[in-house]
Amino acid sequence: MNQLANHDVFQKRIDNFLAQKLDKLPINDDKLHQAMRYGLLIGGKRIRPYLAYITGEALGASLTDLDGIAGALECIHAYSLLHDDLPAMDDDDLRRGQPTCHKAFDEATAILAGDSLQTLAFDILANHNFSKKIQPKQIKLIQKLVSASGYQGMCGGQALDLAATNKQIDLEKLETLHSLKTGSLLEASVLMSAECSTQVTEKDKEALKKYARLIGLAYQVQDDIIDITSTEEQLGKPCGSDLAAHKSTYPALLGLQGAQQKAENLFQQALQALASLPYNTQSLADFATFIVKRSY
Ligand code: IPE
Ligand code: IPE
Ligand code: MG
Ligand code: MG
Ligand code: MG
Repeated sequence: MNQLANHDVFQKRIDNFLAQKLDKLPINDDKLHQAMRYGLLIGGKRIRPYLAYITGEALGASLTDLDGIAGALECIHAYSLLHDDLPAMDDDDLRRGQPTCHKAFDEATAILAGDSLQTLAFDILANHNFSKKIQPKQIKLIQKLVSASGYQGMCGGQALDLAATNKQIDLEKLETLHSLKTGSLLEASVLMSAECSTQVTEKDKEALKKYARLIGLAYQVQDDIIDITSTEEQLGKPCGSDLAAHKSTYPALLGLQGAQQKAENLFQQALQALASLPYNTQSLADFATFIVKRSY
């Protein structure tokens, strides 16, 4: 991650923010609380918070406002992974170099920890102390997180992913699937942060949306690529698990080279989308590079 400017700074910032949120919860059930901590605080690249911070930073948003966005997004992401690894879904045993939550605890606890992290996301967003100018947008921010994470977003994409297991789907359907299950939260990281800027215009938001859609899709294309090209040590999660589960992926449909070409095309288009923005977007361009170069 060291090719990403300030990644360590933002990682520490979000880890502290999330740890504080968990520490503040009353411990009604110690096991559930520990499972939430396990899912939220042990490892993770913190890509969504990072993207939220660098977008907001480029647009002159306040870091304190961005904490609420970044924290909520990471809670949704962590919950999505706890559920994604369950036997009823991908049935994976390793995540971030550790046993998956249902292995370290049990299935019921992993389900409930996921549920509780999902509601914690909305708790954070609804109760965050946003600055005066941003407060009127709080409902809009909640609406954006709802559509990015629920039926119209991540959950909808996960359902399409399950439905496409053990069968071939066409490229158009695969693109919809990837854009929903992974793209929507990355898109929200950019667009929710943009709402925290007082200088961004509607035209800027259109360009940011284009950029976010392209890198959101590219992120999952690369995730599918590294599932077959990386190692378990590098990834901290099992390799070859998509193949074993007969998942619909870009490499499965286009071959490895075709998938790499797809990621490269998305990357080039994302850079073009940034070109029209009147801000210093170097960190967003570097982030796009990271996505298509990453091997973990
Ligand atoms: C993995 O997400 C699941 C996908 C959406 C591709 P990340 O690659 O962001 O996983 P962590 O949070 O760094 O472990
Ligand atoms: C997960 O996609 C997307 C989510 C919404 C969690 P994958 O199933 O490919 O993610 P990994 O490879 O298990 O991290
Ligand atoms: Mg999955
Ligand atoms: Mg999975
Ligand atoms: Mg994967």
